[in-house]
Amino acid sequence: MAADPRAVLVTGGAGYIGSHAAKALHRAGRRVVVLDSLVAGHRAAVRFGPLVEAEVADVEAVRRALRDHDIGAVMHFAAFLDVGESVRAPVRYYRNNVTGALSVLEAMAAESVRCFVFSSTCATYGEPIETPIGEHHPQAPINSYGESKLAVERALPHFERAYGIRSIALRYFNAAGADPDGELGEDHSPEIHLVPRAIEAAAGGRPLEIFGDDYPTPDGTCLRDYVHVSDLADAHVAALDALVAVGRSGAYNLGSGRPHSVREVIAQVETVTDRSVPRSIAPRRPGDPAILYAAAQKARAELHWAPRCSDLETIVATAWRWHRAHPHGYHGG
Ligand code: UFG
Repeated sequence: MAADPRAVLVTGGAGYIGSHAAKALHRAGRRVVVLDSLVAGHRAAVRFGPLVEAEVADVEAVRRALRDHDIGAVMHFAAFLDVGESVRAPVRYYRNNVTGALSVLEAMAAESVRCFVFSSTCATYGEPIETPIGEHHPQAPINSYGESKLAVERALPHFERAYGIRSIALRYFNAAGADPDGELGEDHSPEIHLVPRAIEAAAGGRPLEIFGDDYPTPDGTCLRDYVHVSDLADAHVAALDALVAVGRSGAYNLGSGRPHSVREVIAQVETVTDRSVPRSIAPRRPGDPAILYAAAQKARAELHWAPRCSDLETIVATAWRWHRAHPHGYHGG
């Protein structure tokens, strides 16, 4: 009997983007099973289907999950994501992000599961030679995080040829914000991303360091493309639908297409929270390109995806709401 294509295994589904994708799938009428080691994920973020507590590198455990739950498609989020750490400790990134993904693909091949949506990143492009960045921009990562994601992207056509696994790689720009219903949010330890860090500073926590104000940008700080995590989640559902309906593998950028500077984000946080963000200027962070933003027309045209809540105000407002309700993340209530 063919597996149910509406049944989706979400690896890393207890994490930030994975949990939002699980919610979007559930809303779209799919059956969700989360596979997560809970090393970085949160049990409390698993609300839309059962949790299989396992490492993605455990091929037997992934095979069992695919079989036991009659899974027809996999969304693979489980990965390490700290760019700075990836420069210091590449072995962790190759082991977890590359070997982990290959284990999932190996399990899928063995169990004849043939739809794969992969969580990739704009870090696969490296230092951009032109902006906005389209999917055909050369992929030349400048850190092992980006390399680890690109290695998996490069493996995908081989798995399609050999085992018939069709796949879509989604290259996110800067994921930010929180579930507009307030059920899910960002809870990394330690927190490194700009929006939650600025909110933490506004709420009286560690002051924010601005990593460099001497970039060749209008206000001297880096420009990034912030995209709401719920919009990313919707794009995963659209990608899976396209994969099932059209059956064509591919890669898509996911961004709002609008660049915002670090100072603009801080100003938005001050407006939304009605508090000041204590900050200082710190040296540039190694590996930070000055400008990254997406040309995301391909996802609009082919996946019929359009961001609905990726304006900076909604991103910050939803993240602030999450922070106020959960100042210590999932564990703090
Ligand atoms: N920044 C600060 N201070 C902070 C944190 C961030 O000034 O405390 C700045 C960064 O220098 C950068 C911007 O805010 O200019 C955004 O930084 P984030 O850490 O929030 O996000 P990144 O742009 O580093 O990371 C994102 C994704 C990665 C992806 C990377 C590609 O989270 O998955 O873009 O460069 F790999």
